Amino acid sequence: MRILVIGSGAREHALLLGLSQDPAVSDLHVVPGNAGMADLATLHKGTVTDPAEMTQLATSLDVDLVVIGPEIPLVAGVADALREKGIKVFGPNKDAARIEGSKAFAKDVMAAAGVKTAHAEALSPGAPNDDIEATLDRFGPTWVVKDDGLAGGKGVVVTPDRDAARAHVDAVHAAGNPVLLETFLDGPEVSLFCLVDGETVVPLLPAQDHKRVGNNDEGPNTGGMGAYTPLPWLPEDGVQRIVDEVCVPVAKEMVARGCSYSGLLYAGLAWGQDGPAVVEFNCRFGDPETQAVLALLKTPLGQLLASVAEGTLAEQPPLEWEDGYALTVVLAAQNYPDSPRTGDVITGAENPAVLHAGTARNANGELVSAGGRVLNVIGTGPTLTDARDAAYAVLGTISLDGSHYRSDIALPAVEGRISV
Ligand code: GLY
Repeated sequence: MRILVIGSGAREHALLLGLSQDPAVSDLHVVPGNAGMADLATLHKGTVTDPAEMTQLATSLDVDLVVIGPEIPLVAGVADALREKGIKVFGPNKDAARIEGSKAFAKDVMAAAGVKTAHAEALSPGAPNDDIEATLDRFGPTWVVKDDGLAGGKGVVVTPDRDAARAHVDAVHAAGNPVLLETFLDGPEVSLFCLVDGETVVPLLPAQDHKRVGNNDEGPNTGGMGAYTPLPWLPEDGVQRIVDEVCVPVAKEMVARGCSYSGLLYAGLAWGQDGPAVVEFNCRFGDPETQAVLALLKTPLGQLLASVAEGTLAEQPPLEWEDGYALTVVLAAQNYPDSPRTGDVITGAENPAVLHAGTARNANGELVSAGGRVLNVIGTGPTLTDARDAAYAVLGTISLDGSHYRSDIALPAVEGRISV
């Protein structure tokens, strides 16, 4: 099987690694990729949001499957264009990708499907000051202010400070995007990724992301600073409840609306007193949780993703997983998430436990930082503590001037500080 992966982050690096271990996969290509992927796949240049260009690339490479990593090409209709040319693709069409691309659409689907979620109100750019103030008054004492444009999980401010909430409303409006204010859902967060093929829903292992930049969940939100899987504190029937109460009703509602879902449905949830409630949906694998989840998947990944693309997911045997735990820790550049410095030389990243996110080669051929989140380090082990020890031991051998990482990934779970 010849496969083209679209994307350039650590999530796509993890996908390529998993695909390379599938005996049915003969040939891997990636667009645009990054410096860490060259050993696994042939790198191609291209505008990943251009449906015609991506279709042309897939055709010229004669691939059997295209796997689309990020949301922006999905929302731009790259999957639609590929399917129109008869090319198999893992990832939803544009109308189904609205589950991430339009928070209003997602709320509407959830209301129709009877899925528990936060109450939300929208504020359009240009809304009068009085409306903004009155809307802010209806929320709190913790404000959840979301950029309703595509923000890749990075446009959310959760704050007890009303002035900070107002400042984020103004910043999002200044960028021309609508704002969504939501009630704060209390309880530990769960990311559950489900393979969805029409009404067939197959969950992967549940994971938890760490979104704040600093230890103890301090500092601003980021794209994610680390994750672990599975979740020792989740009730035994937790995954099944999320599937039954959230993912299956949504998948059925999408079919009923004529925008059947095919790909990865990412349910971001808070586990409250009454169980799961949806914080948001994404139309793609999450980053950095995917890096940990795929580290434990034994089922051949290429054949699995192809079965979704072919509409035969329901015929697949149950997924197989390694025992134990996996953890990913993100190494971020100086000043991430504000204005990350790039171009710094990285050493010690040759370890197979290292996945690349924002990396490139400079004119001297040296590996350098090229983004905010630079590397991900994976650790696995029979216990979460073993997985943490493995990841942090590798991190200690990497050098990148000014870089930082959280030292407490999965620590609250290890110390039994998460309860539901
Ligand atoms: N884990 C956050 C995201 O992928 O959006």
